[in-house]
Amino acid sequence: TASLFVPTILTGKKILVTAGGTRERLDPVRFLANDSSGKMGYAIAQALQQRGAEVTLISAPTKLTAPTMVKLQSITSTEELYEAVLQKFPSQDALIMTAAVADFKPITTAQQKIKKNSDNNQWSLELEKTPDILQAVAQIKRPDQITIGFAAETQNLVANARKKLVQKNLDLVIANDVSKPGVGFNGDTNRVTMITSNQPPITTDLLPKSQIAEKIADQLEKIINQ
Ligand code: CTP
Ligand code: CA
Repeated sequence: TASLFVPTILTGKKILVTAGGTRERLDPVRFLANDSSGKMGYAIAQALQQRGAEVTLISAPTKLTAPTMVKLQSITSTEELYEAVLQKFPSQDALIMTAAVADFKPITTAQQKIKKNSDNNQWSLELEKTPDILQAVAQIKRPDQITIGFAAETQNLVANARKKLVQKNLDLVIANDVSKPGVGFNGDTNRVTMITSNQPPITTDLLPKSQIAEKIADQLEKIINQ
């Protein structure tokens, strides 16, 4: 039997999605991490794939299984994510940067386990900034390419997200108020405000991440149509 194929605006589009929280290694048994589960990024990858897009998912470690038909590339650190995104981006129509990227990493990674055997009851860790991947992408972005970022905020949601829209030269920013219950990191639900430079912000209800992913896919289609 012939399968039913309904082309959409996203059919054949090459879309790069990043997901999960990057990890910065401290020593052979320890790393700095964050609360990201990867669920939002995986849901987006699946929604886009179902609309016919050719999806590449670059993922930090998660407990999730990649959607079938999606090309998966696994990374761990911010540096690996940076290299993978910059390598893939030129061949893509769009990038959706859902990954929760570490902003800082230990200045050095110890080759041996760090021991507690000192007289000090305190120990401070020196950190350095990681590269901002979306900022780097903005430098090589062509006019035909679309970039979408997330903004995790605990206050001044729209104002802070708008700054990211401008500074990272994004077409769309998905703002999450991560101080609210059920929103953003790690849960199965999310409530987002979608912000562009030329339309009033759109705030969704609190919904399963699969439905949030559909709304983000709708906005991406709208941007491509413009
Ligand atoms: N991001 C990135 N590279 C980084 C940090 C963040 O590409 N080194 C991306 C994230 O994937 C997200 C967007 O930038 O799509 C915003 O991330 P967020 O953490 O909300 O903002 P930051 O720019 O890191 O600023 P801050 O954490 O201080 O709010
Ligand atoms: Ca950050």
